[in-house]
Amino acid sequence: VPGNLIKLRFQLNGAGVVLQCPPGARLLDILRREFELYETREGCGQGECGACQVLLDGQAVNSCLVPAFMLSDADVVTIEGIRTLKAFAGFQKRLLDREVFRCGHCASGMQVALVALWMRNPEPSEEELQRALSGNLCACGGYRAIIEAAGSGTNRRRRHARRRD
Ligand code: FES
Ligand code: FES
Repeated sequence: VPGNLIKLRFQLNGAGVVLQCPPGARLLDILRREFELYETREGCGQGECGACQVLLDGQAVNSCLVPAFMLSDADVVTIEGIRTLKAFAGFQKRLLDREVFRCGHCASGMQVALVALWMRNPEPSEEELQRALSGNLCACGGYRAIIEAAGSGTNRRRRHARRRD
């Protein structure tokens, strides 16, 4: 490995990958430039908008702030990887059917943040949904609709549960 590069092995969307790159290269750039995963978007580039979120070892992180050296043996899942998971098909359909995203710039980061929450808590309350999306900005003002659509399955299950009581 040339002196200014490091060699990394990590999991990306379920497959093992190997990469040589500068230790400080941003995960966001690695995903887009090296792996052509263009649905992880850049917004602020400073960790403030959430547009670039991916799952890193199961946590939603801003990939614009993650340097390459942190990826050794990590498990990275992008929105492209999430889309292949059957478990999340229903949830994605709920968001997309309701057309909650206008320009779509925040869409992949929002979905990653929601999936990170769902993995810990499959029945989140509205407050938990709001907290999970507190690091994701939607410049189009779609925030309310996104939270309502994301919570609709949970609320429906709760209504059924109440009726059965
Ligand atoms: S682009 Fe990464 S948080 Fe805004
Ligand atoms: S839909 Fe445009 S930023 Fe959220």
